Amino acid sequence: MDGMGPLLYEGKAKKIFAAARPDQVVHYFKDDATAFNAEKRGTILDKGVVNNRMSERMFRLLEEHGIHTHFIERISEREMLTKKVTIVPVEVVVRNVVAGSLAKRLGLSVGTAIQPAIVEFYYKDDSLGDPLVNDDHLRLLNVATPAVLRELRESAQRVNAVLKPFMADRKMQLVDFKLEFGVYHNKMLLADEISPDTCRLWDMSTGESMDKDRFRQDMGKIEEAYQEVLKRVWG
Ligand code: TMP
Repeated sequence: MDGMGPLLYEGKAKKIFAAARPDQVVHYFKDDATAFNAEKRGTILDKGVVNNRMSERMFRLLEEHGIHTHFIERISEREMLTKKVTIVPVEVVVRNVVAGSLAKRLGLSVGTAIQPAIVEFYYKDDSLGDPLVNDDHLRLLNVATPAVLRELRESAQRVNAVLKPFMADRKMQLVDFKLEFGVYHNKMLLADEISPDTCRLWDMSTGESMDKDRFRQDMGKIEEAYQEVLKRVWG
């Protein structure tokens, strides 16, 4: 790696720097944690290291299964080199089990299995609080065409088909997760990160949360949970 260029963008959990090539960027994973649209803030010690290493594992695994991602290489404990994509401002959430906002919105019991998995779209806009939207809303907003949304939905289901059994083999139930996609040279790539910040993972023997819910809900042992997830995905 020829070193990092200027800071291009700073998000809640990552900083993005220019790379040597104009069509690549370096992601720097921070320990900063936020929840509830940044109303709650804190730090999770070494979260950046865990999320970087876990994302590397997830992206390599998905590439092995023919899913194209922005990942190029992990270049240090907290830095990842990726293709520079233009992010589609849609958060794609896949759900295998009722939890979180779905339980609240529809009054369903947490832990209820969802089969087949469902996909939801959220419009990525902090000032609006990332609202749940449907295909028509996204077309109205000129965010994505029906064909693009079909592609995102299919990719998300394919990611789930790889990750759900992978986690189960490691005694973790993949409850739900959030994906982001971006365009690179006219191709749609899976982007952002896949980590305990963006997934719900429940220990299969105890049912305990092993993800950011421990921070959101002040459950304690946050760092331990992140380290345990990392150990299981690489172990
Ligand atoms: P939700 O139940 O709060 O809608 O979250 C669904 C999944 O999406 C869960 O695995 C956590 C993840 N997520 C993010 O990655 N970023 C977010 O801003 C939110 C709200 C959820």
